[in-house]
Amino acid sequence: ESSQKYGPLVGALDEGTSSARFLVFSSKTSEIVASHQIETHSIYPQEGWVEQDPKFILKVVTECINCAVESLKEKDLSVSDIVAIGITNQRETTVAWDLITGEPLHNAIIWLDVRTAETVERLLDQVPGKDKNHWKKLCGLPMSPYFSAVKIRWLIDNVKSVQQAVREKRCCFGTIDSWLIWNLTGGKNGGLHMTDVSNASRTMLMNLDSLQWDPQLCRFFNIPMEVLPKIFSSSEIYAPVSDGPLQGIPISGCLGDQHAALVGQMCFKRGQAKSTYGTGCFLLYNTESAKIESSHGLITTVAYQLGKNTPAVYALEGSAAVAGAALRWLRDNIQLLGDISETETIADSVVSTDDLYFVPAFSGLYAPYWQPDARGVICGITEDTTQNHIVRAALEAICFQTRDILEAMSKDCKTPLMKLQVDGGMTVNNLLMQLQADLLGITVMRPQMAETTSLGAAIAAGCAKGIDVWNVSDIPQVPCDEFKPRTTQEERDARYSRWKMAVDRCMGWNV
Ligand code: G3P
Repeated sequence: ESSQKYGPLVGALDEGTSSARFLVFSSKTSEIVASHQIETHSIYPQEGWVEQDPKFILKVVTECINCAVESLKEKDLSVSDIVAIGITNQRETTVAWDLITGEPLHNAIIWLDVRTAETVERLLDQVPGKDKNHWKKLCGLPMSPYFSAVKIRWLIDNVKSVQQAVREKRCCFGTIDSWLIWNLTGGKNGGLHMTDVSNASRTMLMNLDSLQWDPQLCRFFNIPMEVLPKIFSSSEIYAPVSDGPLQGIPISGCLGDQHAALVGQMCFKRGQAKSTYGTGCFLLYNTESAKIESSHGLITTVAYQLGKNTPAVYALEGSAAVAGAALRWLRDNIQLLGDISETETIADSVVSTDDLYFVPAFSGLYAPYWQPDARGVICGITEDTTQNHIVRAALEAICFQTRDILEAMSKDCKTPLMKLQVDGGMTVNNLLMQLQADLLGITVMRPQMAETTSLGAAIAAGCAKGIDVWNVSDIPQVPCDEFKPRTTQEERDARYSRWKMAVDRCMGWNV
């Protein structure tokens, strides 16, 4: 009876920077029928270095799958009702592993890691005018420690076991999606070494037109193409899971987490955009078939390709490296908070920041500045400043960074956004949502179902040819809460110009 009520089920594995989760969706009602989530942690071996253990990631993911599958019983459902699985993941994070032994050759280098700042400088010496946008026409991205190509370069240059494995043609590189899919589909016993176009478009090695590894870029970064995964569309049957409770179920969807959120928020039309508030903050604006080259510091990325023979859809993206990470920092390093959820009450206990600004440029600034040498500042401190003002300023920093991105987006796209769809862990904070509306001057729309990233991965899997339990045009929109701006344009602009002054003070610190 339950199987009839929920219809075929679709699983989504979401491996993010701070947690992993496995969710099971009903294709009939889009409801979550089972889920399990585990927090993960990063390793910081040196200042600016951020790593995670690939085996730990696998262990956590396996535990999420086992627990979620187990809980299906509570609803009288069984794993045999799951018809497909989608994967979504933290992007750019790079893993190198041995094809023969299946062992990682180094810890995963997390997207936030800036150890490659010198590698970037050295590579910039090789392009005319040291122009960091030199390869933007080919891959949509500026040269930055953020993207995978420089992380792969660093691993080949600095890790002996990686060098040897590359020489002996048994080295596999990949982002987290590749590492998970290879392991889930058999690992050293014939696992599929693949990625999808959305994840590949974050490496700096994929050509935005051909959707294949670009020979010129691979030559420039000196990365042999055979170590890279095969690129697939974001929605097609790739291979079945080889063992464990999901054995035999096809993996048929794969999307970078920000791209999955765009799909989960049903932003399928040109001009629709979403902003996800997680460790960082990422705003993606659907540009359909147009690859808009930003003149204002945004990047061009493949949003998704829903089917092998379907054209790719592109997006403009503005990314801020530090959003939720600023709140974690206030909790873990400064001990201003016991729990992140306290931020709302603490920040709400003051009516304003009293002209205090906090720019959390811990490891440089991403869009639209792309300044790896920026470092964080708190300015405007007076003898009346309390921890409440600092916490409120941390929330506002997230909102101001979003305004930085939206300003750039309006200039590139010529049509300003009339409303902003949001998602991600931090959107439970109502004060943050209201501040965001107040500082942007547009309505903020928050879906009542928070797991839009996982839903996007499930949609990619469920829409795949041969699975066909969903059709993108028929999926109902998730109902939203609305936050309307309560400020005047003058107030907003005055606050924003003070923010820009604070940002100026961050620049060029780490010289
Ligand atoms: O580009 C990095 C991004 O994909 C990470 O997202 O949510 O894991 O912080 P999240």
